[in-house]
Amino acid sequence: MLIRLFLLLCLAVAPLHAAQPPASAMASAHPLATEAGFEILDQGGNAFDAAVAVSAALAVVEPYSSGLGGGGFWLLHDADASRDVMIDGRERAPLAAHRDMYLDPRGEAIPRASMDGALAAGIPGVPAALDHLAREYGRLPLSASLAPAIRLAREGFAVTPHYRRMAAFRLEAFDKDPEAARLFLRDGQPPELGHLVRQPELAWVLERMAGEGADGFYRGAVAERLVAGVRKAGGIWTDKDLAEYQVVEREPVRGQYRGFEIISAAPPSSGGIALVTMLNILAGFDLAALDEAGRAHLIVEAMRRAYRDRAEYLGDPDFVAIPTERLLHPFYADGLRASIRMDKATPSASLPGAQPVKQGDDTTHFSILDADGNAVSATLSINYPFGAAFVPPGTGVLLNDEMDDFSIKPGVPNAYGLVGAEANAIAPGRRMLSSMTPTFIRSDDQLMILGSPGGSRIITMVLLGALEAVDGKPPLAWVARPRVHHQYLPDVVYHEPGAFDGPARAALEARGHALLEQPTWGNMQAVLWDKARNAVDAASDPRVEGMGAVRAFPAP
Ligand code: DON
Repeated sequence: MLIRLFLLLCLAVAPLHAAQPPASAMASAHPLATEAGFEILDQGGNAFDAAVAVSAALAVVEPYSSGLGGGGFWLLHDADASRDVMIDGRERAPLAAHRDMYLDPRGEAIPRASMDGALAAGIPGVPAALDHLAREYGRLPLSASLAPAIRLAREGFAVTPHYRRMAAFRLEAFDKDPEAARLFLRDGQPPELGHLVRQPELAWVLERMAGEGADGFYRGAVAERLVAGVRKAGGIWTDKDLAEYQVVEREPVRGQYRGFEIISAAPPSSGGIALVTMLNILAGFDLAALDEAGRAHLIVEAMRRAYRDRAEYLGDPDFVAIPTERLLHPFYADGLRASIRMDKATPSASLPGAQPVKQGDDTTHFSILDADGNAVSATLSINYPFGAAFVPPGTGVLLNDEMDDFSIKPGVPNAYGLVGAEANAIAPGRRMLSSMTPTFIRSDDQLMILGSPGGSRIITMVLLGALEAVDGKPPLAWVARPRVHHQYLPDVVYHEPGAFDGPARAALEARGHALLEQPTWGNMQAVLWDKARNAVDAASDPRVEGMGAVRAFPAP
């Protein structure tokens, strides 16, 4: 079943460059989460309070995508302060982690050790980030902004087709943890459609946070249960890991493209740097003047080059030196662009270095705009569907398996041919490299808010969405556009059904591109504030079950 609401509100008499939007707008991966956000706006909350409510609601109703046991990046635009900032709530490696922790005595990667169960989980950042958002940016206490999520956890939400698909994908992992299976399956199978998933233990944890903020999660009874459950199941968390977790405020990555300012995720996400690199490369071409194959060729060549750099240079900026300024500089992109031939694909093997990236399977994004022009673009994750498929007993908190985003075996190819750079090696307390790319695109006339889940494909999805956006298309076009992806290695152009017509396909193959059609991917959520037209618009990816909506402000 596809649930998608697409509303457009346009005021007839529009002042030029309205200082405030004519309505608020929100798009998230679940209608109940979008509703939770509007509920909080209706109570006088701002976009940041709504972001708390949406994040917490998604933690309840989209347990396969994100949650209190995971992490994320919240890109904020604070209209009053005229300031953009990124809240880094990414998971950290536990303090007892070490670079070879997923290798056997012979130095081989232990299958699934970084994906399933307690040892796969990084120290969660979402609870600390929600507390930080509420205290530093919100107007309402957590007791108000967490209320919709607490209600959903207690009363339950109905299983959807997407829930069932995600649960079926992780049945093998669920088999290893009876607590996770009890909470999210029925008799060891995905629950039937409409089955109500109730999470009283998770409601209890959210209530502790409502009363005590981050301490309600990282200290006291909840923390004790988390650590005990993880250690009993072979994990390495300690009280100190939880007590010491801190969010970091980071300066977003910035770039320019055809008169628009790009504001996006900073390291430890690779998203912003790779996005700006691709746009810098493409800025040197007149894409509109090319045929479909020519345009796709250049987009793919830009992707190939940005992804090569991604794995080579990027990691946790608190641990490794990242040449951010160089990578973002237009001169650097000029060099990359000069190596592109119009008539021929560049074999990835001919570029120096070889660092493939892995692709995850679930995560979530939401976009929010409030009455004052505050904006949030947030991408949150527990990595694979249902994370590590592990729940410390008595908490209801499904833990992430984000440790898999580290290079499990730096410098040396593992059994699957995956190689990671030193910059992303496991180290105690380090944040693992991410592809999450919450983004704003801004001009005097417009503010665009977008992002998506999709593992290594997130960045190319945001690129394609951004190209539609700066072309003046509406948000539905950004989120619906057929997707194309190249990540340097493997040297393949992945594409959705219908991405190319026959002649474009043939022309790309004639240039030497290997094309591989795959089922659709991504779940983009987008909002547009068109200041020139004084209009607001929202759209949710038609591929999945989200809801984008525009709401007039409640009567005072
Ligand atoms: O942070 C990252 O890049 C990954 N953990 C995201 C995983 C993801 O998006 C999977 N989604 N489909």
